[in-house]
Amino acid sequence: MSTVQRILAALPAKPTQMLPQACYTDPAFFTFEQRSVFAKSWICVGRVEQIPIPGDCLSVPAAGEPIIVIRNEAGGVHAVSAVCQHRGEILECSGPRHLRCPLHFWTYDLTGALVGAPRTGAEELRRLRTEVRLPSVRLELWHGFIFVNLDGQASPLGPSLAKVEPFWEGYEAADLVAIPPKMADTPLPWNWKVHVENFTDAYHPEFVHRGTHDFAPSVHPDGGVEFTSMEDGDNAILRTVPLISADGGMMQDGWGEAAAFPAIQTLPEAQRRRLVFVLLPPSMTLVFAPGAVAYTLISPVGAEATLASSDRVTAGGWLLPRTTTKLPDFDQRKAAVQEGAAKIWAQDVPLNLGMQDGKRSRFGPPGYYTALETTLVQFNAWLLHAYRRAAGTVAETRVCP
Ligand code: FES
Ligand SMILES: [Fe+2]
Repeated sequence: MSTVQRILAALPAKPTQMLPQACYTDPAFFTFEQRSVFAKSWICVGRVEQIPIPGDCLSVPAAGEPIIVIRNEAGGVHAVSAVCQHRGEILECSGPRHLRCPLHFWTYDLTGALVGAPRTGAEELRRLRTEVRLPSVRLELWHGFIFVNLDGQASPLGPSLAKVEPFWEGYEAADLVAIPPKMADTPLPWNWKVHVENFTDAYHPEFVHRGTHDFAPSVHPDGGVEFTSMEDGDNAILRTVPLISADGGMMQDGWGEAAAFPAIQTLPEAQRRRLVFVLLPPSMTLVFAPGAVAYTLISPVGAEATLASSDRVTAGGWLLPRTTTKLPDFDQRKAAVQEGAAKIWAQDVPLNLGMQDGKRSRFGPPGYYTALETTLVQFNAWLLHAYRRAAGTVAETRVCP
């Protein structure tokens, strides 16, 4: 029995139990996850604003595969493999109207069709043009976010995010512009699941984030965190927490009343009094706040190596009303949000390091989830489904608590 088979055989029967520790530490299991989870999931790789005009493109990794996302001549966005179909060199965006391989200069048009192959005869080139193109990769846009999926059979993304839709109400009416996150180049030394569990955990803020998160409490006499149920096919795990007063947001000391990004006037009343934390497993998180939508892109590169790009970890990662970006002191406001997010992150980092260390201990617990950890149980359900589907022991539909 291989290591991966042994780990799969040890998966808990129910998502209310923790996954085996090896799911967080074993390199072979990480390879299995890349192939069986990430390569079959919708992965967010950026925003449409990053490629505004035909010929613009993004070189991005998805499930360990180099991908190029291109704005084509007709204005649409599509994705192709970045692996040259001559001998397999990796293409980079080279524009403006074509992709050119750096090794022997084979060129492809914006749809991925072969255009040129130097030193081949006219007859041979004609034949190659009919046979060679960069493989297409499935792509879907969701509120301006670009998602790709390496699995041609995967279910469409949009319906799986249906339960997030109500929370967009009023945001796009504010003429949002994206400030994409600075892309991380240094991996964080923990498993990607430790990273997203930290994000989605409503239990820890009152203990870990004293002074930076009290304004958005999970526990409050007037009502605290609220969860949603997880239905078959859902690809979103979310929670809402109240704000102590309306129109608050991120300040230089964390969440607070005097938000650096002004509240968005087109939001419904309820949304100006809460934060909505959304995990889109496996690669993205979003926070809907009264003044902004903040997002994180996650790209694991090893069992204990995770790239994460966001205002907490690197910089940027916001959707903001255009009016906010035009404020004369916008740079100071950005800096304040960055500082507040970094303070919250500085409180999380040692805990994530500790959690990853715990995954290597012989004394690791079977685990116990409180009611405040409902989203972690939902994430376990999502993972168990993905693992069992890959192992051929579960049907396509997902059963969640
Ligand atoms: S490998 Fe790309 S042109 Fe030769
Ligand atoms: Fe935290």
